[in-house]
Amino acid sequence: MLLLKGVKSPIQTQNAAEEKMKKLIVTGANGQLGRAVNRQYAGSTEYELVNTDVGELDITNVDQVMAFAREIRPYAIINCAAYTAVEKCEQEEDLAFRINAVGARNLSIAASETGAKLVHISTDYVFDGNGTRPYIETDPTGPQGAYGRTKLAGENFVREFGGRHFIIRTAWLYGEGQNFVKTMLRLAETHDKVRVVRDQVGSPTSAAELARAIAYLLPTENYGLFHGTCEGDCSWAQFAEEIFRLAGKKTIVEAITSEEYGAAVKRPAYSILENYMFKMTTDFMFADWHDAVSTYLKDTLR
Ligand SMILES: NC(=O)c1ccc[n+]([C@@H]2O[C@H](COP(=O)([O-])OP(=O)(O)OC[C@H]3O[C@@H](n4cnc5c(N)ncnc54)[C@H](OP(=O)(O)O)[C@@H]3O)[C@@H](O)[C@H]2O)c1
Repeated sequence: MLLLKGVKSPIQTQNAAEEKMKKLIVTGANGQLGRAVNRQYAGSTEYELVNTDVGELDITNVDQVMAFAREIRPYAIINCAAYTAVEKCEQEEDLAFRINAVGARNLSIAASETGAKLVHISTDYVFDGNGTRPYIETDPTGPQGAYGRTKLAGENFVREFGGRHFIIRTAWLYGEGQNFVKTMLRLAETHDKVRVVRDQVGSPTSAAELARAIAYLLPTENYGLFHGTCEGDCSWAQFAEEIFRLAGKKTIVEAITSEEYGAAVKRPAYSILENYMFKMTTDFMFADWHDAVSTYLKDTLR
């Protein structure tokens, strides 16, 4: 079992107070969101995290998932595990399906069977990217690539097994791990100018903000599908400019088209999600993306 700082293994001796803590199984705990969830709950006296990544709990293995859930009897499972390499998903769609769809299904079965809540994370890539106004939760989906198809199948499995679940679609996520912000900071070390696409728009979302939203929803019975991204939107080129500005870098952004960039996989041009269900049903507000990236950089560059 994977142990991150401040988190106890269920096998370790627990005192009476700890016994009463609600257990949260976190899958994919080494990923960006998994780490942010750990930060969110650090020092919690109510929840005890049981951190797992593929080495400890392979979500594609239904028997392993069921046995683990039966042993832990969690209050909730927070599924931070996924196959997120968009290009590789095209070449390995079966593997992506096993992790993004079958994995979600297995966790959903285990959550239903043990009476646990399930938090599952999905993506803006379930949409076709041809929108002209921010997508809301009830808009028709139409994934254009393997990543989006497998993530949508995962959502559908979670709905199909009918347990108490929250599905949160997020986008342009960055946290502890490899991401666009880190790539830009690395390029700024060696380049005076970087070429970044201007014709894809979305809402950069910090994993910390998403973890805060998860912690908000988790104790509630406000189940269902949510869009969960930082407020505001920009193109990748504008995002890069803001990163350089905040980090005090002189690097110039040359804003180019996706065609000029020539990526192997077509990405949605329009990826803006409206957090409509959060706004309709809660008083939770995501931070504006400028503020969230500023907070993130203060932490990262410290
Ligand atoms: N990153 C984004 O821009 C973005 C955008 C929209 C939505 N999302 C969604 O947000 C969620 C969190 O993304 P993230 O960026 O935090 O992902 P991430 O950093 O790629 O982390 C995913 C974690 O899952 C693990 N994993 C892979 N296969 C597994 C398996 N079979 N069993 C258990 N764990 C497994 C990975 O381990 P390895 O590294 O060893 O494979 C990794 O530690 C995902 O659902 C993702 O689809 C992400």
